[in-house]
Amino acid sequence: MAAKEPTKAQPMDLGQPYDAVSRTFHWLVVALVLVQITIALILPSILPKSAEDSIAVWHLANGSTILLTMLLRFAWRLVHPMPPAPTDLPTGLRILARATHWAFYLVLILLPLMGWLAANAYGSTPRLLGLIPLPKLLNPDQAAGETIGGIHKVFAMLLFALIAVHVSGALYHALIKRDGVIRRMLPGRA
Ligand code: HEM
Ligand code: HEM
Repeated sequence: MAAKEPTKAQPMDLGQPYDAVSRTFHWLVVALVLVQITIALILPSILPKSAEDSIAVWHLANGSTILLTMLLRFAWRLVHPMPPAPTDLPTGLRILARATHWAFYLVLILLPLMGWLAANAYGSTPRLLGLIPLPKLLNPDQAAGETIGGIHKVFAMLLFALIAVHVSGALYHALIKRDGVIRRMLPGRA
């Protein structure tokens, strides 16, 4: 007998939601990234020049926290696979969604690492959570700082592009397909 097609009244069974730890990591990283974008792009343009040093300290502290969280999240992901994608999703979109998810892991680890290297090259020591100094990976070198800082900014642009693709996908599922994919990532699921 042919498999029963999902209908609006009987949405497709998407199986288990993401586990609670994965959902907590997801929304924690969303919050930290939003704070980081505010610190990197919005605060410098609205606060006085005299606040520049403290903005930089916050950028390094929050960014290092993203690095630590992403490393823990990656380790968790390796032993807790993602739930399968909806079966009625065209192959191209399924590949795009999975590629975006894995690209987030890569970019959200490499981007802060580049920032750490750039900070060292500019002679600064980032502090994890604003408290614990991170080991020095590079000796001060202004030219190296500018090169690595440039790569860091390219990675930041890549992150913004991934966020645009990912949020468009989430809205497509929530508003057009209404297939329950969003619910798998929302807090409070059993
Ligand atoms: C998700 C994490 C991060 C994002 C989205 C991010 C984003 C950015 C952006 C957009 C800029 C350019 C700001 C501007 O020129 O107006 C920047 C600069 C910079 N960031 Fe980050 N950053 C992150 C993590 C980090 C970390 C972890 C560190 C260090 C531990 C760091 C250190 C730096 C430094 C030193 C610069 C100046 C680079 C230069 O001008 O050559 N960043 N970051
Ligand atoms: C900084 C912003 C974001 C990042 C870095 C991010 C990252 C990720 C990653 C890596 C995954 C794969 C699951 C995992 O391995 O943990 C994922 C899944 C998911 N995200 Fe996001 N996300 C962001 C923003 C959002 C927003 C704003 C929404 C909702 C509007 C959202 C909704 C979802 C949903 C529903 C899934 C599950 C998709 C599925 O079941 O196939 N995300 N996200």
